Amino acid sequence: MVGIFYFASYMKVGIIGAGTMGAGIAQVAAQNRHNTIVYDVNLDGIERAKVQLEGTLEKLTAKGKFSYAQAEAILNKILWTSDIRQLASADVIIEAIVENLDVKKKVFEEVESLVSQDCILASNTSSLSLTSIASSCKRPERFIGIHFFNPAPLMKLVEVIPALQTDSATLSKTLELINSWQKVTVVAKDTPGFIVNKVARPFYSEAIKMMEEGLASVDVIDGVLTSKEVGFKMGPFALTDLIGHDVNYKVTETVWASFYYDPRYKPSFSQKRLVEANWLGRKTGKGFYTYPQQQREFIITPDLNAVSNEIKFRVLYMLINEAADTLYLNIATKEDIDKAMQYGVNYPKGLLAWADELGIMNCVNYLNALQASFGDDRYRCCPLLRHMAAENKNFY
Ligand code: NAI
Repeated sequence: MVGIFYFASYMKVGIIGAGTMGAGIAQVAAQNRHNTIVYDVNLDGIERAKVQLEGTLEKLTAKGKFSYAQAEAILNKILWTSDIRQLASADVIIEAIVENLDVKKKVFEEVESLVSQDCILASNTSSLSLTSIASSCKRPERFIGIHFFNPAPLMKLVEVIPALQTDSATLSKTLELINSWQKVTVVAKDTPGFIVNKVARPFYSEAIKMMEEGLASVDVIDGVLTSKEVGFKMGPFALTDLIGHDVNYKVTETVWASFYYDPRYKPSFSQKRLVEANWLGRKTGKGFYTYPQQQREFIITPDLNAVSNEIKFRVLYMLINEAADTLYLNIATKEDIDKAMQYGVNYPKGLLAWADELGIMNCVNYLNALQASFGDDRYRCCPLLRHMAAENKNFY
């Protein structure tokens, strides 16, 4: 154990891309005392990232999170460069550039010719196949996915995704390194959306579908899902406004296409129209809501009772169905699926633990009723839930 810790703490970290994610990951690495090299093709982008990090650390120092000397030490740990050859001495490379398969493959071809034989090569991609990126490497067994969440310094979760070619030493060294950064790691199979971006789809899509059906307005749906009884920190409409509809719609579309157009992941016209209108949410001042938004308190009045139950159960059971499907397909362990949703998107409970609480038979009955009522395959119940209900089993 001591030997491995020694290994992880002395690794030199190379980051490709000084954008939102690259700069955030560099901050995490430098805070954990790693010498860090950030490379980007765009000089202005490098300068922007550097100034932004200085500002962030200044604020954190003012708040008492770091001493002045600590902030100074973090900044001194990072070398910002537009010369790719500076990455040659890195022990691990984390790439966070544009989400484009060909561009990523090209960068890895180039970087692999510079680094040592043992250097781990990793991508922070949210939606591309790691196996496909790995195929551009001469030694694909040292390639892996390390998927941080935004903002990287604050979000605890990191999904670690071995490509088909990744060897077990690369996986264990990667887990050791990221765990030493006080992150919560989960391991996912190289499948579309990994854990979080797959399992979370119904949170948005079922909410939008209920709004389209006219079941309730956006603030009622958000209000029910963030009520004390249900417990989500943000409702789906407020959250997609925050994420940006361009980003959220694109993820939905990618997951849908990647699962061979399974109706469970079908995107919605309402969200597509928002993108077309450039009503992208908070960043453009308008999305499902208009900003700045007035503070509203939501109270479930008796006339809303039946509707609020439908909102709650449709979203919850669809999320549970997706989490069960993720386990059924062996994408991750039940513990990792539950941890991923709690630490990656702040869900109040793990979905499989929630399923046990609600009763597996109730999940099956509700989903069957939805499928019968809508005649839509998106509601088909995961075989794992049906088998568990028949055998009276729980997840935990
Ligand atoms: P971004 O657009 O903020 O930054 C990308 C940076 O890469 C830019 O500074 C750009 O100049 C640089 N770049 C582009 N091509 C390059 C090349 N060939 N060589 C060197 N530098 C290059 O993008 P962001 O949001 O940081 O995303 C980066 C990656 O992280 C993407 O793969 C994305 O899917 C993934 N990701 C993004 C999340 C988010 O919430 N923004 C969350 C998790 C993953």
